[in-house]
Amino acid sequence: MPDHTPDTALDSLWTPTTIGALDLPHRLVMAPMTRDRSTPAGVPTGLNAEYYAQRASHALIVTEGTQPSPDGQGYLLTPGIHDDDQVAGWRTVTDAVHAAGGRVVIQLMHVGRISHPDNTPHGRQPVAPSAVRPAGAMFTATGPQEMPEPRELSTTEVEETVDDFRRAAARAVAAGADGVEIHAANGYLVHQFLADGTNRRTDRYGASIAGRVRFAVEVATAVAAEIGPDRTGLRISPGNPYNDITETDTHELYPALLTALHPLRLAYLHVMHGGDEALLDTLRAQWPATLILNRGGADVPARARDIDAGTADLVSVGALALANPDLVERLRRGADLNTPDPATFYGGGAAGYTDYPALTD
Ligand SMILES: Cc1cc2nc3c(=O)[nH]c(=O)nc-3n(C[C@H](O)[C@H](O)[C@H](O)COP(=O)(O)O)c2cc1C
Repeated sequence: MPDHTPDTALDSLWTPTTIGALDLPHRLVMAPMTRDRSTPAGVPTGLNAEYYAQRASHALIVTEGTQPSPDGQGYLLTPGIHDDDQVAGWRTVTDAVHAAGGRVVIQLMHVGRISHPDNTPHGRQPVAPSAVRPAGAMFTATGPQEMPEPRELSTTEVEETVDDFRRAAARAVAAGADGVEIHAANGYLVHQFLADGTNRRTDRYGASIAGRVRFAVEVATAVAAEIGPDRTGLRISPGNPYNDITETDTHELYPALLTALHPLRLAYLHVMHGGDEALLDTLRAQWPATLILNRGGADVPARARDIDAGTADLVSVGALALANPDLVERLRRGADLNTPDPATFYGGGAAGYTDYPALTD
């Protein structure tokens, strides 16, 4: 019965490790996934707490992207971490995860230009490094709408945005989170500063690679100073064109970013791997500290091989963790896995959220 025999190819996943301030029982991390099931005020609910608690056997949960400010919201029903009600909502989530024996970091995600006024609490024009309109439409309450041209942040506003991340990190820890992950991937605000297609600035936050990495480094520095570098992670997706991103210098940009980040002694770097193996090897050589790798779409044995090869210290899984609350137990037992249903990824209630079956004994 090959389907029900524990897979020795996964052995490297099950060794304990420490990342920053956190002792982890193994190396399978739940990747961040936006689910659009918080309240319109961005407050996590009891249903959200149940969903995360069901997945507490992952070594670490990285939550869905969470806006550090009203400007940071782009999608409907995403959670925030900039007011007291949101902190109280997150407290129910972190308490539930901890009670179930898990650990959880909140992903701080400012969408920048990937937004629409109808989806924000204040109805304002989206903000970005430069006034470069993203191609594509955004789902809103009245249906899909073209994303408008964003407003370029002034230099002072960029500094204020760094401070929004710092405050959000403080609130995340006040809400009981074990740390935060700064979302510098997938074409959202931090990535918009990194990429030359979206960053046309001529001030110190643009103009050169050193300028374009500055925002990411200042955010990481501010967050680390606020809650400790050992509770601060950062996620990148080098070369990922998602959300209309263009990078003409990926191979120079990301090494420069890692060189600037390395002295901060962050808890981890989370790399969403886009398939450029040579780039991944370069990044790994430059980041001997803890690296979580997300080899999107790969099966779990293939991901575990990255630990054996030394390419990663931990690996994260997205869709499989979404569909398998007890993914760890299933893998340990060699049991079959549930299949994720994309129709219920974003929005809705318990269906496709908390009702994926766990193994019954
Ligand atoms: C429903 C869904 C929502 C996602 N939301 C986020 C997010 O909020 N932040 C983020 O960094 N990545 C997000 N991702 C990307 C995942 O973290 C992951 O990198 C991607 O799904 C590919 O890896 P996988 O095969 O492990 O799922 C999302 C993915 C899915 C499927």
